[in-house]
Amino acid sequence: MPQRIGIVTGGGDCPGLNAVIRAVTKAATMRGWESLGILGGFDGLLEPQKYRVLDYKAIDGLLTRGGTILGTANRGQFSAKVGHGESRQLPKELMDATKAGMEALGISALVSIGGDGSLTISQQMHEHGIPIIGVPKTIDNDLEGTMMTFGFDSAVACATDALDRLHTTAESHNRVMVLEVMGRYAGWIALYAGVAGGADVVLIPEIPFCYDSICAKITEREGKGKHFTLVIVAEGAREKDGGFVTTSSQEANREAHLGGIGHVVAQELGKRSGKETRCCVLGHLQRGGTPTTFDRVLCSMFGAMAVELIVAGDYGKMVAYTGKGLGAVKISEAVGRLKMVPIGGAMARTARALGISLGE
Ligand code: F6P
Repeated sequence: MPQRIGIVTGGGDCPGLNAVIRAVTKAATMRGWESLGILGGFDGLLEPQKYRVLDYKAIDGLLTRGGTILGTANRGQFSAKVGHGESRQLPKELMDATKAGMEALGISALVSIGGDGSLTISQQMHEHGIPIIGVPKTIDNDLEGTMMTFGFDSAVACATDALDRLHTTAESHNRVMVLEVMGRYAGWIALYAGVAGGADVVLIPEIPFCYDSICAKITEREGKGKHFTLVIVAEGAREKDGGFVTTSSQEANREAHLGGIGHVVAQELGKRSGKETRCCVLGHLQRGGTPTTFDRVLCSMFGAMAVELIVAGDYGKMVAYTGKGLGAVKISEAVGRLKMVPIGGAMARTARALGISLGE
């Protein structure tokens, strides 16, 4: 039975990270275990180790607090994702040093809270004999093996609120308003927020779009006396036969930084439709702030389940939300390929049924 566990947060932050840290710590404390929070991502396990003791006092107020009190990293020597769908094997010396760091701290199991990148690292650690459990975090909801990652619902709530606000200004000025949201190569945030916020056009990476089809929607609305149109575009959306729009050239050992498609779409729609068009890029607002009620519940369930898996010695697993309840899958089954929006799935069908254009 482990007496001391480590908790590490990796990759981009999102609402709910602190809620998971709290849940794991509480569930561990209930068993009489100690929890150590590793600072600054996996690097905190290396010499000189950086950590803080997570006792009851340390987790005060964490349920509702955005970000991560442990800090995080999505670059540096622990970067395993190097491009769209590409990963690299981390050096054996780094794995050995990680193991040695854990031993030095007396940590017998690690809870790794992260997305595709951090869980790819976690899988390699598992293969190296490190007792590790994964918790699926990302606003992008692009992890296989779980119906929902935590952070997604909060990001959708933020994007929906933005659409609600854009709606009234679009209507007042008879404009086409384009909202660019995050999500990397998956369109989950755009599609869920688009449906929840009553968008007229939703553009997602899974369905390359065509301007004629979007303009047809604008014209159709004009014909019905609706002189404004709300477009939500995922940062990874692209025109048929077009490439991804990125903000800067790709750094070594890092994934490309997507962004800019909103402005491209707004400019082109303005030219083609003759209407006044504006673009709003929501950016990191989607990653900050208080987790929604759903995310708080999910984080609490995930944290408690992670401790149960440690009790069972069921390492190399990621806790998962099945829609009916909780489960666990091998981390290896959750990483490696992204969970994309099924183009004939329930949400895409719902959008089409409501007359939302997907730019097809
Ligand atoms: O994976 C989460 C995410 O917010 C993506 O949606 C986005 O593409 C990326 O991270 C932004 O990364 P950064 O924080 O490095 O700008």
